[in-house]
Amino acid sequence: MNDTSKTAGAAATQTLTVTDNVTGKTLELPVRQGTEGPRVADIRRLYSDLGMFTYDPGFTATGSCESKITYIDGDEGVLLHRGYAIEDLAEHSDFLEVCFLLLYGHLPDRAEKEDFEQTITMHTMVHEQMRTFFSGFRRDAHPMAIMVGVVGAMSAFYHDSTDIDDPYQRMVASHRLIAKMPTIAAMAYKYSIGQPFMYPRNDLRYAENFLHMTFNVPCADLRVSPVLARAMDRIFILHADHEQNASTSTVRLAGSSGANPFACIAAGIASLWGPAHGGANEAVLNMLREIGSKDRIPEFLKRARDKDDPFRLMGFGHRVYKNYDPRAAVLKDSTDSVLDELGVRNEPLLELALELERIAREDEYFQKRKLFPNVDFYSGILLQAMGFPTSMFTVLFALARTVGWIAQWKEMIEDPVQKIGRPRQLYTGEARRPFVPLGAR
Ligand code: CMC
Repeated sequence: MNDTSKTAGAAATQTLTVTDNVTGKTLELPVRQGTEGPRVADIRRLYSDLGMFTYDPGFTATGSCESKITYIDGDEGVLLHRGYAIEDLAEHSDFLEVCFLLLYGHLPDRAEKEDFEQTITMHTMVHEQMRTFFSGFRRDAHPMAIMVGVVGAMSAFYHDSTDIDDPYQRMVASHRLIAKMPTIAAMAYKYSIGQPFMYPRNDLRYAENFLHMTFNVPCADLRVSPVLARAMDRIFILHADHEQNASTSTVRLAGSSGANPFACIAAGIASLWGPAHGGANEAVLNMLREIGSKDRIPEFLKRARDKDDPFRLMGFGHRVYKNYDPRAAVLKDSTDSVLDELGVRNEPLLELALELERIAREDEYFQKRKLFPNVDFYSGILLQAMGFPTSMFTVLFALARTVGWIAQWKEMIEDPVQKIGRPRQLYTGEARRPFVPLGAR
């Protein structure tokens, strides 16, 4: 393959020349340059012109879509939403403002912000009949199992926002999902611990209302600590979107067939649940508990290096970040101060995590493979200190990521080149062979 850059007047048109050494045929593929990031070869004509597919398990070098929402520079540890750095959003913004930004492409002015907050607030209740869904689950069901089922069931309740060809209905579905996800998440938690559901309160802000529905009970009126509410809001911001990760790609792929938005988001939740993705925050805490003390760290690092041992250092490594995950950096910075404000002193798991990170980062295996802590490494410690059981960690991730999923889903539906997602394969099974009757086998 040859990579050439041609200049036509002021506009630079780049192409990638592909030569098939078997047939001698040559194809010039257009190369596109995004606002940021590496150039992208448009290979759509490869099959029609050369009769060839590309092979890329795990999509390590494949761009599945064009997007204007989120940009990641994995080598530099940069994460931008609509051009704004995650560090700035975490410091100066709030979650609903970030939701607006992801959905509409710009930061809201005062009137837009008030209007959006009001809209989301008015959608926080779920249909009363949805309560009965919960009682269909075993009382000790994992809250993520409940989330997958109940969010999918929203398709059966909100028929007036499932026509994906109607922009208004698409927007209503987006608002409903952002608004109702905290209510459903809190209900999943309450159900799993056998406490009554708490209705949302429209006088509370988004994160505060979620903490109220999660930790309050009808027989008391506990005030949500502003420190906790701010920490929760910041955690939501840090998880809001992350371009074409596994769950987002799942949402896009499910939606590409024209499926309704609630069903697509349920598919995203299912994908997020895995320990290699959003389930890692739960796995990190379990791992830290299993390690138990600093003197056992070398033993676990040895296991992580061992190719014959399936153990991996949870919360370490990332497909895209080959430098520090900027979300982990923000979380690490805030963990200490939040624990301090919560009155949690010398949290042993935090001490253990810091030491694990220190030793792993000095280890040649992790250095060579550029494995750094990711967002899940510190989030669990913070969430545990805030009172969440480990089984709720991935639920919180799903709650926050819903806006990213729905913004990406909308962008896909509104993209004129959108087609049903349908990858091809390298077939290595049996070639065509004659059928053998049962008696002759
Ligand atoms: N512990 C030990 N070795 C690791 C780890 C780890 N956590 N992560 C990657 N490696 C090794 C891997 O074995 C491979 O080694 P080699 O080149 O010798 O075969 C090399 O590093 C490259 O890894 P990979 O598996 O090819 O990388 P990937 O991009 O396919 O996987 C990952 C990315 C996040 C799934 C993986 O790093 C991992 O399993 N990490 C632990 C789970 C985790 O923390 N997931 C949360 C990701 S961030 C939040 C989210 O997306 O939800």
